[in-house]
Amino acid sequence: MRLVLLGAPGSGKGTQSQLMMRHYGIPQVSTGDLLREAVAKGTALGKAAKAAMDAGKLVDDSIVLGMIRQRLARRDARKGFILDGFPRNVAQADALGTLLEELGQPLDAVVLMKVRDKVLFQRLAGRRTCRRCAQVFNVFTNPPPKGGCKGGQAHDLYQRPDDNEQTIGRRLEVYAAQTRPLVAYYRKRGLLRQVDAEGELDVVEMRLEQALGRGSSPGKAASRAVKKAVKKAVKKVVKKAAAAVRSRVKPTPLQRARRKATKVVRKAGKARKKVVRKAVKTARKAVSKLAR
Ligand code: AP5
Repeated sequence: MRLVLLGAPGSGKGTQSQLMMRHYGIPQVSTGDLLREAVAKGTALGKAAKAAMDAGKLVDDSIVLGMIRQRLARRDARKGFILDGFPRNVAQADALGTLLEELGQPLDAVVLMKVRDKVLFQRLAGRRTCRRCAQVFNVFTNPPPKGGCKGGQAHDLYQRPDDNEQTIGRRLEVYAAQTRPLVAYYRKRGLLRQVDAEGELDVVEMRLEQALGRGSSPGKAASRAVKKAVKKAVKKVVKKAAAAVRSRVKPTPLQRARRKATKVVRKAGKARKKVVRKAVKTARKAVSKLAR
């Protein structure tokens, strides 16, 4: 499968590419990751790209095209690839078309991942990446599990320098002006599929698979939904019956004490969450004030 994931910054291109890469055994080719790697290594290419990246602008086409040409020539890309963040303007799309024609590897599909701007902002502001395993998380929507990294250690998280409020705004403008025209470009060529990319990660993954004709059939999806609904209904009935039995039987002093203790613990948990939420809100306000 040869695929382009198209979408605004924060639409989940990287996250879904990683999931698909594991399922289909084809590499994710992310120009953003390749450029960040070059910046971190301090190569000439990285130095040339850094200023544009920090400002939220596109890096020069010639730099990106050279990188893509090299990457797609590698052996692992022969059985397919997922292009994440490339192409990003019409000139890059034309160049990709020519390159893939030379390689005899035309695209199978281009998937547009649709997410509203306000959701994009929240996702980008909350994104954190692990230095050790490169997994991408989100402090709001997808927090890292404790002790979930290599050797049972906690993830070592950092925030991308272009994920600040001002640069996020600039990146969204650049997307609208330069990348969005690719929607019409690929629609005209009969390659475009669209996916609602808001919702749980696995739900978006399922929609993507269905858009590519690889997902489970609508019949299977419906039967899964029915099973889930039946399970939920049974759980509700059992819970109600247990409550009815409990209300008829006089509780022992020990049961009464236990219920009271449970209520106190629940109340304390709620109060703790409230304090944490307030602290996070204050910190975010302070950060955005500083960024201004
Ligand atoms: P690049 O790294 O490509 O950044 P981008 O396109 O701005 O996209 P992002 O990586 O920010 O977002 P994403 O869609 O991958 O979202 P993610 O999955 O991480 O490019 C960076 C820079 O490099 C550019 O600005 C430019 O300067 C340069 N560049 C790159 N390619 C170039 C090119 N071709 N030409 C010229 N210059 C180029 O998800 C975001 C967050 O949301 C994460 O925290 C994730 O956990 C969370 N999330 C994802 N899905 C969900 C979901 N369903 N529900 C809740 N949270 C979710």
